[in-house]
Amino acid sequence: MEEIKNVKGTHDIIGEEANAFAIIESMLKQVAEFFAYTEVRPPVLEHSELFVRGVGESSDVVRKEMYTFLDKGDRSLTLRPEFTAGIMRLIVQNKLYVDREMPLKLYYCGPVFRYERPQLGRYRQFNQFGVESVGQANYLNDAEVIAMAYTMLVTIGLENVTLKINTLGDNQSRENYKTALKDFFKDKVADMCDDCKQRYELNPLRILDCKVPQDQEIVKNAPKMSDYLTPESRAKFASLCEMLDDMKIPYEIDDTLVRGLDYYSDAVFEFHYKSSKGNDYGAIGAGGHYDKLVREVGGPDLPGVGFSFGVERLVSVLKDDDLLPDVSNRLDVYMMPMGEDAQKYCLNLANSLRMQGIYVDMCFDSAKMGAQIKRAAKKNAKVAVIVGDNELENGTVVIKNLVTTEQIVVPVEEMIEKVADILEGFEHEHECCCGDDDCCCGEHHHDHDHECKCKDKKGE
Ligand code: HAM
Repeated sequence: MEEIKNVKGTHDIIGEEANAFAIIESMLKQVAEFFAYTEVRPPVLEHSELFVRGVGESSDVVRKEMYTFLDKGDRSLTLRPEFTAGIMRLIVQNKLYVDREMPLKLYYCGPVFRYERPQLGRYRQFNQFGVESVGQANYLNDAEVIAMAYTMLVTIGLENVTLKINTLGDNQSRENYKTALKDFFKDKVADMCDDCKQRYELNPLRILDCKVPQDQEIVKNAPKMSDYLTPESRAKFASLCEMLDDMKIPYEIDDTLVRGLDYYSDAVFEFHYKSSKGNDYGAIGAGGHYDKLVREVGGPDLPGVGFSFGVERLVSVLKDDDLLPDVSNRLDVYMMPMGEDAQKYCLNLANSLRMQGIYVDMCFDSAKMGAQIKRAAKKNAKVAVIVGDNELENGTVVIKNLVTTEQIVVPVEEMIEKVADILEGFEHEHECCCGDDDCCCGEHHHDHDHECKCKDKKGE
């Protein structure tokens, strides 16, 4: 039968990579919780209207990239192309803004879908981790959200990120700017791409995002947003930049940054990272402030600010720079039953170890001891528990330290305690056995003959 392949633009996440996703996501969640955010899980499916109204008709996402279909009841549904509009719907529908302290601080994580042309770092199904803070207009709220994104990136190991920020100003600023752009592009748009012709009618700001090289040449001379800001918007942006300076968060002001989604006003930002391999995956995360989005989905007038990271892109840059957390040493125990009776017995023993939070693996086949030892080594197990006919008869198990190769025979009732003792030794494997509480030499504690380097340093 012909093999069935995955859908173009989707990808399987397997083994170590799946571990990396889980660890990165749990680190991001933890930082979100340090900032007093709580998790929400909106559905993947929403009414198409939500994104048309929320993300905006002039955005590429809505015009070209949504997975939209009619369900069996003839409703137009869309697989979410981003989270923010759905989070606003969730807030409004569940009346989260009633009787709660503002801002509402929510984080989320999960798959999103965009019908884009797949390329390096660009998928049709990918994962986002993000946050939204809704209900407080203070620019300090924007500053805190940017600080949180920055803290998250540093926490997962990305120190040298570039944060680009810009302001799109308030409504008045943008209207002034759009008029100036329309004037500027009026006699040029006929020579530009078809997309730009549509953008000119729907939202001339979008033209600034055009990727067609000839159009980019024209865009270079377009008026700058910064010349059309109202005094209030200009002052707000200056205060935000000052606060970022105070928090020692490095940033670059990029007045060409307009973002591809229609809901933003005032501050917008993107994070970029150049991995040592030089791969360009695009922005690793992006976000900004919005004023009209809650209202747009039928709620009250509430401002908000948020960002989303592309988790695939985070994992890719961490992988390129060898910064992915190493989870290859997680296996504690490999159970080695010798014979069929021992297999059943060992399955019980394995489960009792697992109940104690110990990582255990075993295999139900009739492999010989040598083959099982090889398997255990390949999986980086630290300890083997061996059970053959003798042990079954005597009610004992053999526990082998796979690093030192020392082995002991103990009554089965003592197995958990002895295994835990050996594993505890591994946890302290960077402790020296010199007996000095302040020792910092980091020598392996099994190496009884080593000379403590601390003592040399201290001149003892
Ligand atoms: P966005 O810039 O469209 O913003 O996407 C956020 C991040 O998702 C990007 O910076 C990138 O890392 C990742 N991403 C986007 N498209 C792809 C793709 N095709 N393949 C892989 N990764 C991708 C938003 O989605 C806004 N909702 C962010 C936000 C939250 N604004 C306010 N709150």
